[in-house]
Amino acid sequence: MRLPDLPQVVALETAAQDFPWRERHFADSLHAGHRAWVLWRGARCLGFSLSMHAVDEAHLLNLAVAPAAQRQGLGAKLLRHALRDAAAAGMQRMYLETRVSNQSARTLYGAFGFQEIGLRKDYYPNDNGREDALVFCVRLDNWKE
Ligand SMILES: CC(C)(COP(=O)(O)OP(=O)(O)OC[C@H]1O[C@@H](n2cnc3c(N)ncnc32)[C@H](O)[C@@H]1OP(=O)(O)O)[C@@H](O)C(=O)NCCC(=O)NCCS
Repeated sequence: MRLPDLPQVVALETAAQDFPWRERHFADSLHAGHRAWVLWRGARCLGFSLSMHAVDEAHLLNLAVAPAAQRQGLGAKLLRHALRDAAAAGMQRMYLETRVSNQSARTLYGAFGFQEIGLRKDYYPNDNGREDALVFCVRLDNWKE
C-alpha cells in the first residue's frame, strides 16, 4: 500500500466497516513503516491488510475486503499473506483484536489457528456505546514456508 492508493483503500474501508479508519489513520500507519498490502483486480482495490511488526510480535491492525467481493476467499488470501510476511520477517506470533459481534472475522481467524487469549472491555465504539474486543493470537512456526 502506498499513499496514492489511499482514496481507494479509504472508500473500501468506509463501505466495509461501521466505524472506519480515516485517511489519516492509514497515512500514519504507512509513515510508521507498518506492513501494508493491497489486493487489486486490475485497477480495482478489493482488499487490504495492515500489520505492525514489533521485536518478534506481529499485530494485525486492519483487514478488510470490499463487500461485493466477500466470501470469495480474498480475506483468507490477505490473511495468509500477512502471516507469511510476518513469519518471513522473524515474528514469532501474530496478535489481533476483533469485535465480539464480528462473527465472520472470528470464523476466519479460527480457521487459521488463532486462539482466543483475552477480552478488552469496551474497546470499540458501536451504535449502543461501546463493545468488547476479543484478543486472538497465533504462533507463526507453521508459516515459515
Ligand atoms: C472479515 C473479512 C475480512 C472476511 O473476508 P472474506 O473475503 O469474506 O473472507 P473469505 O471469503 O476469505 O472467508 C474465509 C473464511 O472465513 C469465514 N467467513 C468469512 N465470512 C464469513 C461470514 N460472513 N460468516 C461466517 N463465516 C465467514 C469462513 O470460514 C470462510 O470460509 P468459507 O467461505 O470456506 O466458509 C470480511 O468479512 C470483511 O472485510 N469484513 C469487514 C471488515 C472486518 O470486519 N475486518 C476484520 C476486522 S478484525
